[in-house]
Amino acid sequence: MVSIGGVPISGKLCLAPMAGVADAAFRAVCRGEGAAYAVSEMISAKALMLQDAKTRTLLRRFPEDAPLGVQLFGSEPDTMADAVRKARDISGCEIIDVNMGCPVGKVVRNGEGSALMRDLPLAGRILEAVVKASDVPVTVKFRKGWDGGSVNAVELAKLAESVGVAALCVHGRTRTQFYSGRADWEIIREVKAAVSIPVIANGDVFEPEDAARILKVTGADLVMIGRGAMGNPWLFSRGQAALEGREVPPMPSARRRADLAEKQFRLALEAKGEKIACLEARKHLCWYLRGVPYASYAKEEINKAQNAKDVERCLRLIRTEL
Ligand SMILES: Cc1cc2nc3c(=O)[nH]c(=O)nc-3n(C[C@H](O)[C@H](O)[C@H](O)COP(=O)(O)O)c2cc1C
Repeated sequence: MVSIGGVPISGKLCLAPMAGVADAAFRAVCRGEGAAYAVSEMISAKALMLQDAKTRTLLRRFPEDAPLGVQLFGSEPDTMADAVRKARDISGCEIIDVNMGCPVGKVVRNGEGSALMRDLPLAGRILEAVVKASDVPVTVKFRKGWDGGSVNAVELAKLAESVGVAALCVHGRTRTQFYSGRADWEIIREVKAAVSIPVIANGDVFEPEDAARILKVTGADLVMIGRGAMGNPWLFSRGQAALEGREVPPMPSARRRADLAEKQFRLALEAKGEKIACLEARKHLCWYLRGVPYASYAKEEINKAQNAKDVERCLRLIRTEL
């Protein structure tokens, strides 16, 4: 079994951090389908230290959501260290993850996220400060490099290992690629060959068989799944079947999709309240219906849902009509 700095991970398939998607409710249903590890949405260290109420809600979790990594982003070593202590106090997370991969303009303009791949000395100071402040293992998630002309994932990986980081997650795209093109699994293989801490491979796992392939190609210890899991927590159970060489079960019926979507919706209601849970249910439910024939009317109705009764009506519609 893979262990991240002593925290055992009871499988190979993990849920990637996704802001606006991988909240406590979604993580809980993915854990139910077998995600062995999950990481929170990225949390601004600065905002957390300013007592921002919304930021604190990002630290919610349900009991089945363990072990959990809480992901922090920032560019100031001291603020990151303070945020580690606070995130641990509030969430009791088992792992702290540092974001050095976010490509979004407003994040990199502040020197945060993937901008740190252009300033390795600062990246090193941040990781050192976070490792020192944390009483649990620290991991870092980063990309292949800033752009095609400055690929430095191996260099950052070695630096992270040298300051005591317990595991690495590599997304095989550069910052300037954002999410376009294909993820380069070769760079993940190079990182894995260069360090002796566990490596988590990430990028373009959309089908159960992709999980087995990325592990084989990269030699990585774990695989992290992002977009492929949206509205599709079964990618974990089906991916597990593929890993074990068992027959991969087909995608579930519309009725079973509605059942799991409803479970997620109820947890979201509990975690976020009706207004936000309903607004967010619109996108999640539409994702759950991907590939279901004749679902366009149901999707239109879902996109009008204002309250829990509307969402329940849509779920009934899916169960009876699709
Ligand atoms: C909507 C969305 C939000 C994301 N938010 C985060 C985030 O908060 N932190 C992070 O490290 N990566 C974030 N990512 C990147 C994913 O974790 C992952 O690295 C990327 O999607 C590639 O994996 P995939 O091909 O399996 O989707 C996000 C991706 C998406 C699509």
